[in-house]
Amino acid sequence: MSKKLIVAIDGPAGSGKSTTAKLVAQHLGYLYVDSGAMYRAITFLAIRSNVLNSNDEITKLAEETDIELKFADGKTYVFTNGENITDNIRSVEVNENVSIVSKINGVRTPLVEKQKAMSNINCGIVMEGRDISTVVFPNADVKIFLTASIERRAERRAKEYKEKGIDVDINEIRKNISLRDKIDSTRKLSPLLKDKDAIEIDTSKITIEEQVEKILKIIKENIKKF
Ligand code: DC
Repeated sequence: MSKKLIVAIDGPAGSGKSTTAKLVAQHLGYLYVDSGAMYRAITFLAIRSNVLNSNDEITKLAEETDIELKFADGKTYVFTNGENITDNIRSVEVNENVSIVSKINGVRTPLVEKQKAMSNINCGIVMEGRDISTVVFPNADVKIFLTASIERRAERRAKEYKEKGIDVDINEIRKNISLRDKIDSTRKLSPLLKDKDAIEIDTSKITIEEQVEKILKIIKENIKKF
């Protein structure tokens, strides 16, 4: 594949975005970017600095923090001003507050700018998130929207926590996912929604391998058009 494409993958929590996007990028030798990790990073910093109640302070963090994402060994490492906060951004507390932080205009503006700038590289890019097709890369070559039933998504999240040795109640996870879905899709600014050009794939009943296969097929069909 010679043409370097921009591939946007959006969808709600637990739809299989991260696993799928990573594998697709790996197959193509493209850069993989988890945009949610950036919103999580600002949320973690806001919790640590005890400023969750001040949109101005959170905006300042988003504007002034140097966020660096490094992908290695199948994992996104996150550094803010040089500090490794990779493990901190996946905590239950961050999960509970990230949708609220992501609603703030002053947070989205600088993060979207940084995400747009990431396409200025010499290879293709697969970026996953909520607004990649609609706001970050409206001209993306391929747009995918992943969905799955709430039950299936909660099961996936519970399995991820279990693998990390964290004890969780699936009912709590289901509640958190439903709440985040509601906030993410009803917020005024860049809500989670399927772009008109995006291809929807329901991942409830298919395996990760099948998801990846489907997306690679769509990408190959698009490449032929160029
Ligand atoms: O993909 P994730 O679950 O790690 O994302 C965490 C939160 O970040 C999600 O609830 C909403 C927000 N987010 C966003 O608003 N826009 C993006 N492009 C990516 C994530």
